Amino acid sequence: MCGIVGYIGDKKAQPILLNALGKLEYRGYDSCGIAIANKSIEVYKDVGRVKALAKILEPHNGKVGIGHTRWATHGEPSKINAHPHSDCAGKIAVVHNGTINNFSRLREMLAEEGHVLASETDTEVIPHLIEKYYDGDFEKAVEMAVGEIDGAYTMIAIMAGESRLIAARKDSPLIIGVGDRENLIASDVPALLDYTSRVIYLEDGDIAVVSASDVKVKQNGAVIDREVHEISWSMEDAQKGGYEHFMLKEIHEQPKVIRDTLTDYLSKAETAADLTGMGGGSLENIIILACGTSYHAGLVGKYIIEDLVNVPVRVEMADEFSLSGQSPAGNQAIVITQSGETLDVLKAIKRLKANGNRVIAVTNVVGSSVTRAADRTIYTRAGPEICVAATKTFVAQLIALYWLALPYARVNAARLDELVLELRQLPVKVQQVLDNEAEIAAYAKKLAAYDNVFYIGKGINYPIAMEGALKLKEISYIHAEGYAAGELKHGPFSLLGEKTPVVAVVTQDNTYEPIVTSIKEIKARHSPVIVLANEDDDVMPDLADSVITIPRVDPLFSPVVNITALQLLAYFVAKERGCPIDFPRNLAKTVTVE
Ligand code: AGP
Repeated sequence: MCGIVGYIGDKKAQPILLNALGKLEYRGYDSCGIAIANKSIEVYKDVGRVKALAKILEPHNGKVGIGHTRWATHGEPSKINAHPHSDCAGKIAVVHNGTINNFSRLREMLAEEGHVLASETDTEVIPHLIEKYYDGDFEKAVEMAVGEIDGAYTMIAIMAGESRLIAARKDSPLIIGVGDRENLIASDVPALLDYTSRVIYLEDGDIAVVSASDVKVKQNGAVIDREVHEISWSMEDAQKGGYEHFMLKEIHEQPKVIRDTLTDYLSKAETAADLTGMGGGSLENIIILACGTSYHAGLVGKYIIEDLVNVPVRVEMADEFSLSGQSPAGNQAIVITQSGETLDVLKAIKRLKANGNRVIAVTNVVGSSVTRAADRTIYTRAGPEICVAATKTFVAQLIALYWLALPYARVNAARLDELVLELRQLPVKVQQVLDNEAEIAAYAKKLAAYDNVFYIGKGINYPIAMEGALKLKEISYIHAEGYAAGELKHGPFSLLGEKTPVVAVVTQDNTYEPIVTSIKEIKARHSPVIVLANEDDDVMPDLADSVITIPRVDPLFSPVVNITALQLLAYFVAKERGCPIDFPRNLAKTVTVE
């Protein structure tokens, strides 16, 4: 993961690099550093966040530089392992995002040739390889170094006395910001938006040579044209807008996200059936692959599609998919990834395509790697999501899945109209949950005192219990597990008691009666129970210890309103515990490593 940035232009590089790194911290934030090139190279780096680095910097007038914010893979977070890394002579500096598979062999080879490598990182081999191959031609040396590396090597290099940034992209995003008498390179668009809205998305295998006035992109040694795109969202969209945390802002954006995503789909489709380009015809077996929160969206998708379309849906974690003995062939695959860069997902796509499966990607990031790997992309319109914990992108993924399934729904026209109407009313229902924020915050205060929490749900809300638990553990560091309500008695019951609360999703559908029975069994074991129940539920107030009221919607759409309440619950628990909500420890927003 890690965030990398480069600047070259007519301004001082240092403040621009620091500002851009701040925008990339969601990608990793255990250490950071910058290097500025003039006649020599100055490197500043340390453990901790970008703000701390800013305090130890000496002002520098150099106009060429690179920066890095790290999510450690090889070697603990430490000053010596932080990037940028340099060659022996200290004339080359490199920032890198990815993992180099053959770095041990390269290290040995370089050591035998007299190079002294100081850190435990895989990255450090890159500047030494460039140094090894340098014979007066920086560009050629970088190309030759890249040719030695096996693995993911998205990186930017600078050299003393050179007015060029040289970048290479492999397996992680890298975007060039095209400015006026200045150009930038970064891992993600928000790092560029203060300077330009014109961007070039590099592709795997690209090598870019960037000066203040020129961008040259090469693929397999030949210079090629890469399209310049105009970014339509602004920096304001990516800022907190008065909220204390990005997470709260992003949860509150959910009504708008649903509207924007639906408006986008409706504007492109005369009817829902036009949307998928598959014409609403026959649909055979479906496989859905994703990781983390997106995997939970996929699990909800299984219930949506099996209910509406009546075809079997297999959902797998993308990271496990490559281990299953048999790869399906000739199926319709849907991969879900908000970032579009998750390595496990990209690897799964390769396997799917090798077996002749057709792949639709659902992603939030325009031009991300998944859009090139898949046959077809359905974008969610959530806007930039900065908090590491996914919230609004999850809701947008659910909307995409409803919309994907609707053209194939085996229901009569009246029911289809009803569903589309309900879908359109979801923003209002989600807003009602948001308006109930104070009540949820009050329950969160109580929950914050516990060390272990179970979340239970049934049917389409079982994955919502899993997602609610993931949100809680991710940002509040409370151990939480999401279970199918009926499974709790097959083992986890031994953990129930006064110190283990259970959060139950009990909004009404055909699973209501059995989950009421489960809650009675849990209460008999003295666990405090917080339920999410519909406002007209007159059973739960007597049965549960606390009731979070949820507006009634068609059961098929209940995941959208229920998860909004669970996101808020996790947020306020984490706030009560004083956790760094937007940047939880050990995590990163975009997971481009195995
Ligand atoms: C969600 O809160 C997590 N940050 C994480 O589980 C995430 O959903 C997962 O890494 C998948 O990311 P993607 O959607 O970008 O592929």
